[in-house]
Amino acid sequence: MFRQNKSADAAPEARTAGGRGRSVAEAKRSSTPPRLGFEAIVHAPTSPITGAIGLARRATEYDISVLITGASGTGKELLARAIHHGSSRADRPFVVENCGALPDQLLESELFGCKKGAFTGAYQDRIGLFEVADGGTIFLDEIGETSPSFQVKLLRVLQEGEIRPLGAQRTRKVNVRVVSATNRDLETEVAAGRFRRDLYYRLAAFPIHIPPLADRAMDIPPIAERILKDVNQAFRRAVPGFLPQTLDLMMAYDWPGNVRELHNEIQRMVALSDSDQPLGPTLLSARIASPRVQQPAAPGAMLKDRVEALEKAEIAQALARCSFNISHAADLLGLSRVGLRAKMQRYQLRRGEGDDED
Ligand SMILES: Nc1ncnc2c1ncn2[C@@H]1O[C@H](COP(=O)(O)OP(=O)(O)OP(=O)(O)O)[C@@H](O)[C@H]1O
Ligand SMILES: [Mg+2]
Repeated sequence: MFRQNKSADAAPEARTAGGRGRSVAEAKRSSTPPRLGFEAIVHAPTSPITGAIGLARRATEYDISVLITGASGTGKELLARAIHHGSSRADRPFVVENCGALPDQLLESELFGCKKGAFTGAYQDRIGLFEVADGGTIFLDEIGETSPSFQVKLLRVLQEGEIRPLGAQRTRKVNVRVVSATNRDLETEVAAGRFRRDLYYRLAAFPIHIPPLADRAMDIPPIAERILKDVNQAFRRAVPGFLPQTLDLMMAYDWPGNVRELHNEIQRMVALSDSDQPLGPTLLSARIASPRVQQPAAPGAMLKDRVEALEKAEIAQALARCSFNISHAADLLGLSRVGLRAKMQRYQLRRGEGDDED
């Protein structure tokens, strides 16, 4: 029932995700120190994610409600954790609840607690996560999935700063910093009447958007290296890195599942490689290895978007073929070097340090 919890800092962390229990983090077994703060978020120096990180660093200083938006697997939880660990609440609990996973009554009893017999299935008194998180931070994941009736209850808790367990008479003051996340566009949900405007404003006092990996291809090499290190450790392997062509193909791919998909792909590559040699392009999944069969954009997309996607794929392929030698790639594409550089900038096709520039 518990999702894996890799943390092991002094602050106890509780997490639930399917509902019944909650756990405090296990002691860390491996020898590397845990990465919980902003240093856990790997990125290239010029990545667009630095904007989000800068905002998040600011947010650590104040007890302001943060709403993190971004597609699945972009690192919303990682950022929420970094905010907590960078804040003065760091030595208090960081508690995670996946609000999309549970029916209302269970979700309410998880968050606010319940008295035995408050509803069918409430076999014992239970302390709510808001109480567990007292003094710390609660991370409300998938907040966009919650029902209107739950939203009313949450709003009341946030307004009053106190919780009342289901079936209880007493209320209890709690001092909890709320960070929430969603991969929906909550403003659209508000406009459509599916999400309460008043709750939205309360949760999104400080909104932070994490761009998808496809918009920050320059982050792929450093993140891939970090993931490879972790996978090596988990799998007891010593794969030294990636061949340049492999990274080039990875940078040209769109990663709809973002960093989580990248993680899965690297695990798979390490599992498939039989020697501890740099990972070659043949180990990549077909959808990543052959950009041509990868549909440039959804069929219904605007012509302009489809043309751009195709152009990006062609340029990425040419760069890969020339190991990022810009003169050669420009020749191959029939572009000037200046023209190619402009397009690389536009599509963020940049390898970072060590590029073979001429
Ligand atoms: N910039 C990054 N550097 C290193 N690891 C990252 C980065 N971004 C994400 N990850 C890793 O990718 C995985 C997914 O991140 P996380 O769970 O934070 O994403 P999420 O946005 O909460 O996803 P979902 O919407 O699916 O819940 C995690 O293992 C996380 O550690
Ligand atoms: Mg998440």
